[in-house]
Amino acid sequence: MENKFIINGKTKLFGSVNVDGAKNSLLPVLAATVLCDGEIEIKNFVNLEDVKVMLEILKTLGISSKIDSGSCFLQTKNVKNGKITHELSKKLRASIFLLGALLGRFRSAVVAFPGGCKIGERPIDIHLKSFRSLGVKIIEMHGYIFCDASKMKSGSVVLDFPSVGATESLMMCASVLAGKTIIKNAAKEPEIVDLQNFLNKMGAKVFGAGSDTIEIEGVKSLRGGEFSVMPDRIVAGTYLLATATCGGDVTVCGAKAEHNQSLISFLKETACQIEIFSDKIRLKADKRLSSIPLIQTNPFPLFPTDLQSQMLVLQSVSEGSCVLQETVFENRFGCASELKKMGAKIIVKNQFAHIQGVEKLFGADVYATDLRCGAALVAAGMKAEGYTTVYNVSLIDRGYERIEEKYNLLGADIKRI
Ligand code: EPZ
Repeated sequence: MENKFIINGKTKLFGSVNVDGAKNSLLPVLAATVLCDGEIEIKNFVNLEDVKVMLEILKTLGISSKIDSGSCFLQTKNVKNGKITHELSKKLRASIFLLGALLGRFRSAVVAFPGGCKIGERPIDIHLKSFRSLGVKIIEMHGYIFCDASKMKSGSVVLDFPSVGATESLMMCASVLAGKTIIKNAAKEPEIVDLQNFLNKMGAKVFGAGSDTIEIEGVKSLRGGEFSVMPDRIVAGTYLLATATCGGDVTVCGAKAEHNQSLISFLKETACQIEIFSDKIRLKADKRLSSIPLIQTNPFPLFPTDLQSQMLVLQSVSEGSCVLQETVFENRFGCASELKKMGAKIIVKNQFAHIQGVEKLFGADVYATDLRCGAALVAAGMKAEGYTTVYNVSLIDRGYERIEEKYNLLGADIKRI
């Protein structure tokens, strides 16, 4: 597939765009199908690169899938335990979610360390510490973790950090573990609530998702059924921030305001007009926006790290200055050096980016370092005068389905070559 975008900049965005299903809900939900007996239909399915890799991993575990008119149909009758190899886990960090599902279903697992990426080392110590506290024997050797959960028991687990993946993995495992398991300091992201809803639809007894304490009453097994994943709040936020950056009037259909409260309250500080409806958000920006003095990324419900790069672009062209602190990942300012090639004034020091807004950005050759940075650079290219080439767009495809087509329908001029 071609791996770069040529963007003919200085465009404003007008019209409406639909938000697809949430990648970060779909991935754990697909992992959880390992626990289910029978056929599962996942509606509001989105066929992203990361999702294709997850389906490839499930296939190695004997789970077949087919995609038909917006749904994915999975058949788990031949599910079997299997080693999650390096080749698979290095393609997809979320492969670590399978640990909980495999321990729940088979009481054993061999999973390669998922490894780090551009945004940080991304250890799995919280995952391992949690399962060890439930009695799982884990040996780390040759880049793999060998898990024996034959003596695993339900109990109470306190997470050192509200890790999204660790919370989800534990929920999956405990849903078919006899007794009551309590997860304290659990992640509260909407995707956690979506996973609870999926598990309970399949017969589990999970309560409290969305709060910092989740209680799971283990059941013998989970059945098949159908489920529709939530809309992608990060994709919705990406479109809103791109419109605020470029100017225009865009309605993001399918977006739920309660999933983006923090972003909406920040954007209201910048003098763009925001209208909230039950299932869409409209943003109008007809002049240069004012800067937001201080922004910090945090776990939900505060401002999400997955919108940090996209916000960095908006602040780069806003009037005034902004200090943006990244508290979740240790190396997620890759976008700053690319934006500086376009004329942005940003100084990164440790976990802080100091941004002095400029009136114009200029086209340049820029490189996506991760999928959110890539999406942010597309917005910068649409804003900039002249032509911008964004490289490594395969990273963007991991989390956005044909992003260039969505923006071109709103008035952009982007070619994938
Ligand atoms: C999920 O990753 C998301 N991915 C990420 O989205 C998102 O940025 C992140 O949650 C935070 O919201 C998926 O859901 C597939 P964490 P996850 O465990 O579960 C540290 C995107 O762009 N940590 O909450 O890996 C970790 O290093 C992606 O769509 C440990 O130290 O995130 C990080 O600093 C990027 N030890 C922090 O916690 C552990 O055992 C948050 O990680 C686990 C995590």
